[in-house]
Amino acid sequence: MSTVSTARQGPSSSPVAPTAAAGDSLKGALYSLSYGLVVVTSRKNDRFNGQACNTVMQITSEPVRIALAINKRNLTHEFINESKVLAVTVLGKDNLDLVRRFGFASGRTTDKLAGVEYTLGTETGCPILKQGIAFLEARLAPGLSVDAGTHTLFLADVVGGGTLRDSEPMTYHDYRELKNKSHSQMHAAEEQDSGQGQGQRPGDAQSQTQGQSEDRESEDHDRQNVIAALNLEYGANRRYQYQIERFTDPGLVSALRGIMLTEGDHIENNLGYLTRSLDENGWSWALLNLKLNLEFEETARDTYRKFASEAKDPELAKMFKSQAQSEQGHVNIFRELISEIEGGSRPVRLYCPLCGWEMDFGTSPEPGTKMRCPKCGVIVGLGVEDGQWVAELEGRG
Ligand SMILES: Cc1cc2nc3c(=O)[nH]c(=O)nc-3n(C[C@H](O)[C@H](O)[C@H](O)COP(=O)(O)O)c2cc1C
Repeated sequence: MSTVSTARQGPSSSPVAPTAAAGDSLKGALYSLSYGLVVVTSRKNDRFNGQACNTVMQITSEPVRIALAINKRNLTHEFINESKVLAVTVLGKDNLDLVRRFGFASGRTTDKLAGVEYTLGTETGCPILKQGIAFLEARLAPGLSVDAGTHTLFLADVVGGGTLRDSEPMTYHDYRELKNKSHSQMHAAEEQDSGQGQGQRPGDAQSQTQGQSEDRESEDHDRQNVIAALNLEYGANRRYQYQIERFTDPGLVSALRGIMLTEGDHIENNLGYLTRSLDENGWSWALLNLKLNLEFEETARDTYRKFASEAKDPELAKMFKSQAQSEQGHVNIFRELISEIEGGSRPVRLYCPLCGWEMDFGTSPEPGTKMRCPKCGVIVGLGVEDGQWVAELEGRG
């Protein structure tokens, strides 16, 4: 067993900066604390939002009072501060998808509740996720919340609650195990990043002393940066493509073509990073991209709305307003496509690998399903490759 001391003993004790090895062991100690995993939801007027959270605990029985630490940057923080109410949906071991949905994107850029089944709590009006195993409704205890630096430690009195189904709760430890099981690749990358793999980067000794809360928030931050990088690269690609179609000088065209090749590599890198965290099924690659498109279009819409409200020139304000409306149209298209796929009502359609005829495998088909091409008669099997449905030639039957 390894031990670590971060402070000298005795009355004159003062903190000692932990060494890299001590940091490792301290991190292990922090990981060994047990936490339950929940989604905390709140509201602001008619708007709802929620986030994954592992810092909810009961602190007193009379009154039944809970505490939860919420980062001040989070939209959920803003909503709780505003409405003074919240709901906690306790997650089961089979709710990893909800951790991903609510823990790695902010409600500022995406509607995390879209496509998720929920009811509104009778006491607080906050969303309670039907997939969870239990729920609590709570109201902030006036004047008791604590400013804890990056986070606010909210103290709230429980005003309602109940069980949703009989299943085991997910702990933070379960979450890490499940996550590592389903993304062993991602785990390897994370270990290297945190200096546990070969080679350390400067500053790692310090970062290893930080606990799991910083870990998962920096995972979230990393993901947001990758999405921003991806949008940048998509933008660059489109920009150069537009100019290639218009430049008349062949030298300029070939310079832009060369640049576009590297921008294409950057898109692959960023998408590759995001794809590592996917569950493998035939829709996962498309869903990831459609969700990123949705997030992008929502940001574009909000940006144009803001520009329209700021424009001094009425003509410009009109132009931005109309662009915002058109972006809202795109938002609707992506929302519909996503809910069609997530709701299982979108059929899987692929081209016959031999003659190119379009084949319909129906809704929610199992990988391995075989079908005869209605045009050329070959047997085509349904496969999944890199998160996409693929048609495989099986023979002539
Ligand atoms: C497993 C897990 C546990 C988390 N626990 C907390 C937590 O206790 N407090 C917190 O502020 N953020 C926590 N987060 C991070 C938030 O869920 C995340 O930053 C979220 O995107 C905030 O969303 P919002 O801006 O829509 O409120 C956790 C994330 C994960 C993946």
